[in-house]
Amino acid sequence: MPAFPRTFISTSQLSAELLQATIQLALNGKSDNWKRYRHALEDRVAALLFFNPSLRTRSSFQSGIARLGGSSVVLDPGSETWQIEFQDGKVMDEDKPEHIREVCKTLAGYFDLVCVRCFPQLKSWEQDKRDSIISAFEQHLKVPLISMESSLWHPCQALADAVTLHELFGGRPQGKNMVLSWAKHVKPIPMAVSNSVALMAAQLGMNLRLACPEGFELGGEVLSQVSAAAEQSGGTFSVMHSQPEAIKGADVVYVKSWTPPALVGKPSEERRRWDDLPAWMIDEKLMARSANAYFMDCLPERRNLIVTDGVIDSTRSVVEQQAANRMHAQNALMLRMLGVA
Ligand code: CP
Repeated sequence: MPAFPRTFISTSQLSAELLQATIQLALNGKSDNWKRYRHALEDRVAALLFFNPSLRTRSSFQSGIARLGGSSVVLDPGSETWQIEFQDGKVMDEDKPEHIREVCKTLAGYFDLVCVRCFPQLKSWEQDKRDSIISAFEQHLKVPLISMESSLWHPCQALADAVTLHELFGGRPQGKNMVLSWAKHVKPIPMAVSNSVALMAAQLGMNLRLACPEGFELGGEVLSQVSAAAEQSGGTFSVMHSQPEAIKGADVVYVKSWTPPALVGKPSEERRRWDDLPAWMIDEKLMARSANAYFMDCLPERRNLIVTDGVIDSTRSVVEQQAANRMHAQNALMLRMLGVA
C-alpha cells in the first residue's frame, strides 16, 4: 500500500487504492463503533482551527478523536487567538500581531495533527482560487494537516459521501447515475462541497451529471479535473442545463448551491441572475423523474428553498446517514494519516 500523504486538502491526493482502503476502514470501524481502535490515538492531541462556523465537522472530529482515545483542542483564530498575518515580507504594523510562520511552528510543538476550516471571502475569484490560508498551513506546518473545508475543496465531506455511496450500493457505486444539482439560494455560497463531491463521484467511477443554469458551471480547473478522474475510473461526466432532463433516470440526486467564479464578488448581479431563472429546487415532482433516487445533501440545508420538506423527510433521503458518516470517514482518515492503521 502506498504511504498516505501528510496533508489532506483534496481527494485528488488519494490513489484509487488508498481511497478504497480508507473507505473500507471507515466501514469496518463503523461496524463495531471503533471498539477495535479505541486506544489507537492514545497520547495524540489534535488542534481543530475554525475560521468559520460548523456543526457537523466540529462535533464529528471531536467525537471521533475521543472514541479513538485521543484528545482535541478547538481554536477560533482571530476571536480566541491572535489574528494571523498570512502575507510574507509584510511590515506588521496593522491589526494582525502574529504571522502564520510562528503559528505553524508553535502548533507543531503541541499537536500531532492540525485540522483547519477556512472558507473563501467570496469577494474576488482571483483571491479565492489561490486557497491561500490552507496553502500557507500546508507550506509551513511540519505535522499532518487535514482541511476541514477550504476555499476550493471539502475533502472530508466527499470522503464521508463516498462511504455513504458504498453503503447504498453494496460496495459498488461505479456505473450508478448521480446528479449534482445547483439550487437557488439567498446569498453567495462557496463551491468547495460541490467541487469535492463532483470529483469524488468521478473518482468512484459513477456517471455524473452536473445540473446547473448556463453560466453557473463549476470553475477553475475543476471541470477538467473531474473529467480526467472520470476517464481514469471508467465513469462519465457531463454538464446539463435542464434540471428535469438531468434527473431523468438518476440513482442519486445530490443538491448544493454554489456561486460560479464569474459571479464571485458580484452579489447584486448574482441575485438578478437568480430572478431571471425558473425554480431550481429539488421537489417531489423532480424526484419522480429519477430511478427512485436517493436524496443527498451535505447539510446544513434551508428547507423549502433548496429542497422541499417532502423530499428531505422522505424514506429516500440519506442526509442523516451522510452526517453520521462524517465521523467514520474522518476516523479512518486520521488513523491512516497518523500511521496507526
Ligand atoms: N457539511 C458540513 O461541513 O457541515 P458543517 O458546516 O456543520 O460542519
